[in-house]
Amino acid sequence: MHILFCADGTKAAPWVEALRVALPQHDIEDWQPGAPAADHAVVWSPPQQFFDEQPRLKGVFNLGAGVDALLKLRLPPPATVVRIDDGGMAVQMAEFVCHALIRHFRELDAYEDDIQQGKWSYRKPRSRTDFTVGIMGLGVLGQRVAQAVQHFEFPVLGWSRTAKELPGARCFTGAEQFDDFLAATRVLVCLLPLTPETEGIMNARTLARLQPGGYVINVARGGHLVEEDLLPLLANGHLAGATLDVFRTEPLPAGHPFRNHPKITVTPHTSARTLREETVAQIARKLTAFERGEPIAGVVDRERGY
Ligand code: NAP
Ligand code: GLV
Repeated sequence: MHILFCADGTKAAPWVEALRVALPQHDIEDWQPGAPAADHAVVWSPPQQFFDEQPRLKGVFNLGAGVDALLKLRLPPPATVVRIDDGGMAVQMAEFVCHALIRHFRELDAYEDDIQQGKWSYRKPRSRTDFTVGIMGLGVLGQRVAQAVQHFEFPVLGWSRTAKELPGARCFTGAEQFDDFLAATRVLVCLLPLTPETEGIMNARTLARLQPGGYVINVARGGHLVEEDLLPLLANGHLAGATLDVFRTEPLPAGHPFRNHPKITVTPHTSARTLREETVAQIARKLTAFERGEPIAGVVDRERGY
């Protein structure tokens, strides 16, 4: 089999080398324009030219969980698109979300400010039962985050497209239960895929439904948040703050109002990184099973968008 690697913003050599070690029976190359037709591709944000030149691809293995950028391209119609499920990202996402939640709940920024100003003062302990965490998206990452947050004994709610049951969490399903989910949530965590249905899902109307003193943690995609709707809700105090890892434009432009906002913590799309060793092992396993005609996890439904 001939496999091409094409990943924007990634040093190709160590990936190609690791893929060659994991799949020694295959011929694996870093893509160059005009490369001969391949059977499979391992990609992250490739240019349209890549797919225009590769009409014979059977499998397109995405180097991440989210396929929103990939599905915007014209892909060879018969190609099966496969995303990474977990691959070491779930535990990273769990630690990132728990860190953001606890930093907010325990007022650690305020303590740090006090210490900087030479103060040694105490804040009234807050009750975790007043900080219900609502997780939008109960897939590979959302479920792992729900489990981690429950370890710290916060009440947990979840919302997904199809019905789910999660031990210890109250689950809501579909558009008809969305407003009830929001109204019961104080800390909103977004772990949805970006699709036409979820684009702009965090906006003035939906964020206003969160409990007073609400907090937003967006670790999915920048397109889920209507950025200009967040600022008035922070200004009028309905929302206490936000931790944002993803943005409509990345890198977040200099001078963007989220930069240096006292109630917003910004990180550079780093909450769950693609880890080479785990990712290569997963792709090698899936590609081999796919070639044998065996079922594999993480096949993307192109119509549904995730
Ligand atoms: P996943 O396993 O596909 O889970 C997606 C979840 O969202 C599922 O529970 C799904 O519902 C739900 N969902 C989809 N559309 C919905 C809708 N219209 N209404 C309600 N629920 C809906 O995805 P994942 O692996 O957990 O990853 C989630 C996203 O995280 C990725 O798509 C990616 O954008 C983002 N991500 C970000 C980073 C980062 O570093 N910031 C890293 C990795 C991933 P069903 O269960 O009913 O299908
Ligand atoms: C990262 O954002 C991913 O989708 O894996």
